[in-house]
Amino acid sequence: MKNTITRRKFLATVGLGAGAAALAACGAPTAAAPAKGPAGAPATASGKLEIFSWWTNGGEVDGLNAMYDIYKKSYPGVEIINAAIAGGSGAGGNAKAVLKTRMLGGDPPDSFQVHLGRELIDTWAVADKMENLNDLYKSEGWNDSFPPGVIALASDKGNAYSVPVNIHRSNVIWYNTKLFGQIGQNAAPATWDEYFSIAEKLKAKGIPMAAMSGSGAGFQGHEFENIALATLGYDGYMGLFSGATSWGDAKIKSSFETLKKMLDYSVPNYAALDWGATDPLVVEGKAASDIMGDWTNGFYKSKNFTDWGWAPAPGTKGIFLALSDSFGLPKGVKNKDNVINWLKLCGSKAGQDAFNPLKGSIPARKDADLSKYDSYQKQAISDFATNKIAGSIVHGAAAKESFVNDYNNVIAEFVTTKDVAGAHQKLVDAAKVAGYK
Ligand code: GAL
Repeated sequence: MKNTITRRKFLATVGLGAGAAALAACGAPTAAAPAKGPAGAPATASGKLEIFSWWTNGGEVDGLNAMYDIYKKSYPGVEIINAAIAGGSGAGGNAKAVLKTRMLGGDPPDSFQVHLGRELIDTWAVADKMENLNDLYKSEGWNDSFPPGVIALASDKGNAYSVPVNIHRSNVIWYNTKLFGQIGQNAAPATWDEYFSIAEKLKAKGIPMAAMSGSGAGFQGHEFENIALATLGYDGYMGLFSGATSWGDAKIKSSFETLKKMLDYSVPNYAALDWGATDPLVVEGKAASDIMGDWTNGFYKSKNFTDWGWAPAPGTKGIFLALSDSFGLPKGVKNKDNVINWLKLCGSKAGQDAFNPLKGSIPARKDADLSKYDSYQKQAISDFATNKIAGSIVHGAAAKESFVNDYNNVIAEFVTTKDVAGAHQKLVDAAKVAGYK
């Protein structure tokens, strides 16, 4: 069972470890329960269902709407309130700020988008803000449908707290084939050396290699975790969270040097651009490439953009940097029954196979209908099963939210100051506060 081994490594990344995986696997029913969609539920359901997310861009919004459509067909009497909030620092920064205010103020949305791993567990489950979903996992057969490693990321002490709707890969370089074609380049760079040699050739033609954002935090942190993964290698990167690697490591420092160099080949006005402005730069031919997660695949689809190629981000072949979006049931919601039906849909094969082909991600379930997925996604499904799995920092899987915020802020500031030693020291200080080495 090679999948179990790689997914255990994903667990180790987020500090859960193989014991938790075994626990999650042991909880599985002996006979596979059929995966139930929402179809059998009472059509008489009424009232509202408020779904909170930061999905407002092309691709993600299409995936969300595809799930809403299924829900509305099953429960025509329920009014869905789409409480999506765009923009902000970090991935979903504005949404997360509003979410925090509402959760702490006793006004939780019926269900909200939350990253599997440390974000779900440390921010919400441990704080006792979420209902335990063990019964739903049993009745829907999810202990069999999801890989044990994914279940463990949704769980704390053997109790499940949310339903994963996808798996995203965050270490991908996307490139505009027409712009690369202008310098006779027909493949993505496999290493950072190759990246800069392509970047130099493009620069000579006045084409920026990199889409970049300098306004708000998060995008730069995403670039940095990709560089650090390549520079430290899989074990070194994993060690940042287990304590085996020090954040003071010279390779972290050299990752800052690489990011600094990348800025020399970025779109010149990046200081004014926010996260959402980066994908369009490649589509519009204003930047040749973008190191981003595979929501970019969903975005390209939504724009009917086809002149693109991809590869694992430089130096990260064989590693799948992963994150997962999920939905849960906050304590004290107004429309609990409607949420349960929403969660059933999120975890169902029908829901995941409607959502993910548009979102750009792959399903969290093991039984996807492959015919619904594009060639990028088929490769991602295969890579997720065979690659080493590491967790993303920026997207909530690997590290707790307080550290993610500090990390994002340090790296965003660095993009302005370009002070390698100063930024490295600040990151080391933040890591210490978070209990890392
Ligand atoms: C990630 C999220 C993705 C996508 C992305 C866009 O954090 O998991 O689903 O929304 O942000 O910035």
